[in-house]
Amino acid sequence: MSDHTDPVVGETAAGIGLPAADDIFTDNVRWGDLDDWNRAALRIHEQQGGFYRIERGGFPRVLAVLDHAAVLEVERQPELFTNGPAPVLTTQEALDTPPLVELKTLIHMDGDEHTAYRKLGLPQFKPASLARLDSRLAELSERAVRTMRDAGGELDFSIDVALPYPLHVILKILGLPEDDYPRMLTLTQQLFGGEDPDLQREELSPEAIAAVLMDFFTYFAGVTTDRREHPTDDLASLIANGRIGDDPLGDLETIGYYVIVATAGHDTTSSAMAGGFRALVEHPDQLRLLQARPELMNNAIEEMIRWTAPVRHFMRTATADTELHGHAVAQGDLIYLSYKGANIDPKVFDDPLRFDIERPNADRQIAFGFGKHFCMGAQLARMELRSLFSRLVPLIESVELVGTPTTMQTTFVGGHKTLPIRYTLRDPG
Ligand code: HEM
Repeated sequence: MSDHTDPVVGETAAGIGLPAADDIFTDNVRWGDLDDWNRAALRIHEQQGGFYRIERGGFPRVLAVLDHAAVLEVERQPELFTNGPAPVLTTQEALDTPPLVELKTLIHMDGDEHTAYRKLGLPQFKPASLARLDSRLAELSERAVRTMRDAGGELDFSIDVALPYPLHVILKILGLPEDDYPRMLTLTQQLFGGEDPDLQREELSPEAIAAVLMDFFTYFAGVTTDRREHPTDDLASLIANGRIGDDPLGDLETIGYYVIVATAGHDTTSSAMAGGFRALVEHPDQLRLLQARPELMNNAIEEMIRWTAPVRHFMRTATADTELHGHAVAQGDLIYLSYKGANIDPKVFDDPLRFDIERPNADRQIAFGFGKHFCMGAQLARMELRSLFSRLVPLIESVELVGTPTTMQTTFVGGHKTLPIRYTLRDPG
């Protein structure tokens, strides 16, 4: 995709009035500089009430919604605004071309089908099941602290701590062996980071995406066969042996289930971890405050999730002509739900670009979405962050950035690629 200084179709985004170069949604390069992105998003809030018509060449006509209340309003009406057929922002060409390998996951489903498939996996994310993960999270958090101690005062927090942690949790939930870690890491990163030049296996093409998906398919087909023969109590067994009504899951839907859990639970949480930690490093007053008042941890985690919003967007398609806060929406129009933009809506969050672990309404962040598709792993993600930071934060004597952190140039799920830090840790008391 083009650099953001390239000319864009039209001088202004019709009906919304901002320069088309302010299209911060479709250009993956813009996502590499989050401060710049935030400033541009805030301008859309201040000048246009949080709406922006994307009219970039190569993309379909899309109404981007950054307004917090309007995002909720869309999510509250899943029949009027469906996930299918295009749950993620795609070019017009991709929309018009049948995929080489089809992928059908929860986020591609609507209505009764979605409800039935969602119900199947939900037991694994209920409090009782999550409570069983506590000791595993404690182990992983202690491992992370050990990694930092062993590194002797300098490491890359994103690569060495935030990336492995959630992936090990996902492997545990699915019931997959730790030895499969490297393969899953490469695959989830390539699926989400496909637009970022550093994470691509080759030039981004339909063939490259299909190759990533085929790897997943082959791997999980083996898992399915195994769990059908030897069922256990893990999520892979639930999926492999699950029934929708009287029938087993279709092949496409079976693989789709593994893929959504493996991918949705990984880069999302590691991005919140790395981005949340960076916020503490860059706001030493907030770090000291959290050390002095550990009871602020839960609120600090909501603020980190508000601040990072690693799932940048999901899309909806209007099934009828309607209107959204004065903006006409025609049947078939695409709506871009900007979770990142909604999390800095100044109508809801006072001084939204300030990182404030005491923010009284940090829990109004909507980084996990809302309604029928509300993130199934929201509590798990919170538990992971709480487990790590409640062990790590009290131990930090000093911490600073060394070098410039880099962020993924992706339009969908993203966060840090690198977060180089220098630090000293206290001995445990
Ligand atoms: C900070 C971390 C995370 C963030 C920001 C996040 C965000 C989201 C968002 C925005 C959605 C779509 C919600 C909507 O359409 O309203 C979603 C869906 C989903 N998430 Fe997460 N997520 C995170 C972690 C996780 C984890 C750890 C898991 C599981 C292990 C997970 C599993 C899922 C699943 C299965 C869905 C699809 C739900 C459906 O369509 O019914 N997520 N997530």
